[in-house]
Amino acid sequence: MRMPKNKLICNSNLRRGYILGIETSCDETAAAVVESGRHILSNVIASQIDVHSRYGGVVPELASRQHVEAILPVIDQAVADAGITLDELDAVAVTAGPGLIGALLVGVAAAKALAFAIDKDLVPVHHLAGHVAANYISDSELEPPFLSLIISGAHAHIVYVEDYADFKLLARTRDDAAGEVFDKLARATGLGYPGGPKIEQAASNGKEKAFPLPHPRFDNSLDFSFSGVKTAALNVLNKADQQAKTQGVERECILSNADFAATVQETIVNILVDHLEEAQKMTQAGTIALAGGVSANERLRNKVQDLSDRLGARLVLPEIKLCTDNAAMVASAGYYLWQDNKLADWSLNATALWEMTEI
Ligand code: KG4
Ligand code: ZN
Repeated sequence: MRMPKNKLICNSNLRRGYILGIETSCDETAAAVVESGRHILSNVIASQIDVHSRYGGVVPELASRQHVEAILPVIDQAVADAGITLDELDAVAVTAGPGLIGALLVGVAAAKALAFAIDKDLVPVHHLAGHVAANYISDSELEPPFLSLIISGAHAHIVYVEDYADFKLLARTRDDAAGEVFDKLARATGLGYPGGPKIEQAASNGKEKAFPLPHPRFDNSLDFSFSGVKTAALNVLNKADQQAKTQGVERECILSNADFAATVQETIVNILVDHLEEAQKMTQAGTIALAGGVSANERLRNKVQDLSDRLGARLVLPEIKLCTDNAAMVASAGYYLWQDNKLADWSLNATALWEMTEI
């Protein structure tokens, strides 16, 4: 299947623009100023990791409260770091969904108030479109169309990026997201939060095939399913715990965290790469871009690089600091929406569940 190229925006006709991006969909309070979708002038992130790590995962109510406290200083800092005045901004772009509703509302309320006060355009951004846009900052040549694997704490999508705000969904997870599995398994082993980086770190000295894990497939579909992987890995862990108890030793003597992490990481990476390969063959896409927090994973980056080389496709990777949630990606996505006049009025609300295909 070759997708038609139907560009809404011709790059040479783009206006210059300073966009303030605001991101509060989960546990990072972030604001950034990006020039013309590609050049970061400032990128401020107030992380809540310390607050949530006590609980082994994000506590939504705590996240909302932290956003309320951090949002104004973070915006002030982003504008100051950019070395521009509020009046020089062209628009305020904000993640309006999907995400934690209480967390999103803080960013949306701040963006509306600011845009109204300074009389600038208000641009609602889909969080995953933001993740994809991180690639426009990291690679100044990148333009749609291309194929993107978007893997975060809540999503696992393969999309064909037809245009800056036009996405064809080729695959999604039918249950857990890839990052969610990393987070839950890291919590179960006691490796900590956020799970992805902890699993990656522990995996560096481990065996990749320490125990078998499933690779579920659906008929005639590229959709993912990770809940079986998660449950099978939890069973292995529980069995190791029981064995250790019977023998009066630590679990590490039966199954090391390194082997557990390496096997989980390898399984998830192989599933992602396998489905991505099929999606590339189906679309014949000449360019592949990774997006979302899990795309910071080095094993995944290396394996997708090998895949792209084998398929003769160009690979674009977001800078590590732009893989996880940030507001520069929101400002970049917002810039292209602003060019296309896809603005919101003052009735803009946050949307916890929002499909990429409905932008
Ligand atoms: O995109 P993101 O920052 O937030 C969401 O939109 O969900 O992604 C966060 C997810 C978490 O599940 C985290 O464990 C995972 O990305 N992650 C990683 C790595 N860094 C972050 N997963 C695997 N390897 C990493 N290095
Ligand atoms: Zn995200």
